[in-house]
Amino acid sequence: MPGSRITALGRYQPSRVLTNDDLAGMVDTSDEWIRRRTGIATRRIAAETESVADMAAAAAADALASAGLDPSDIGLVTVATCSAVDRCPSTAAQVAGRLGIPAAVAYDLNNGCAGFCTALATADHAVRAGAARHALVNGAEKMSDVTDWTDRSSCVLLGDGAGAAVVSAAEPEGIGPVVWGSDPTRADAVRLLGDWHPRFAQKGQTVFRWVTAELPAIAREACRRAGLTPSDLAGVVTHQANLRIIENVVRRLDLPDHVVVAQDVVDSGNTSAASVPLALAKLVERGELPAGGPVLLLAFGGGMSWAGQVVTCP
Ligand code: ACO
Repeated sequence: MPGSRITALGRYQPSRVLTNDDLAGMVDTSDEWIRRRTGIATRRIAAETESVADMAAAAAADALASAGLDPSDIGLVTVATCSAVDRCPSTAAQVAGRLGIPAAVAYDLNNGCAGFCTALATADHAVRAGAARHALVNGAEKMSDVTDWTDRSSCVLLGDGAGAAVVSAAEPEGIGPVVWGSDPTRADAVRLLGDWHPRFAQKGQTVFRWVTAELPAIAREACRRAGLTPSDLAGVVTHQANLRIIENVVRRLDLPDHVVVAQDVVDSGNTSAASVPLALAKLVERGELPAGGPVLLLAFGGGMSWAGQVVTCP
């Protein structure tokens, strides 16, 4: 089977910036508490009329333009999201329609914050199997729609945005074997339950403890399956949930100084399934990751689920 690789990236974030001081005017919190416990300084919030599909389409258009492909080249469109309101047509079908992609299979994928890495693996598998030559993989969230703006323990964390990757058949391959799974015994640690107006809720410390205990071994396994050790990496892009989690995991991986670690959570907050492609796209845009360098993507979230793989930087 041929391999696949990420050939281009795209991103979109709404223009409205919500600061910690803004939040301190809404709930009983402070800039000092939020920065100390989460590292977050700002997050972007979509306009009321701006949908998950709007943001996904903007990021996807950016990635498609950067790949230099024609819309008719794309055979698969997938959007990882847990906050899209529309069930049908799917967000992916709406993205395909807006970009003029004429005949792609288009489907949404919900695996919480691990959604983008899960979607990337399924696109890689589809391309390897010959089911599509070029795929558009998106992570897009309007978390502000599902935020309980009276709950200070969660509303300070979340943000909106979208990131996208074009995945194309390629030799040598540039997407390593996925490491993925879930732990149903902790399924209630992150919740978006209920009717048409679900509200995000989580057991923050349960998630924190689970992630810092389990993620380093999952990261090492993803590297091992790619034939690498963590010190061979050029970069690490984890789900951007909390800077303390990122620093904790990175410390346990004992990474050398040259490894670039994504910290977009500081500017963007937790954008769930959008966080990994957003952070990756920004690092590539800024030239902080070398083209061809191996980058570990690793995400975790509701389920409790996880997914990660080593990719070659476009
Ligand atoms: N401002 C001020 N005080 C607050 C705030 C706030 N925004 N939020 C909570 N507190 C208070 C609590 O009420 C509590 O007060 P008390 O001691 O009087 O009861 C105190 O701060 C400590 O609360 P904890 O919940 O113990 O704070 P903690 O240090 O655990 O930080 C946090 C909370 C940031 C949520 C942390 O647990 C965390 O990041 N967990 C991981 C979450 C995560 O990664 N989720 C990812 C999966 S889901 C997704 O990505 C969409």
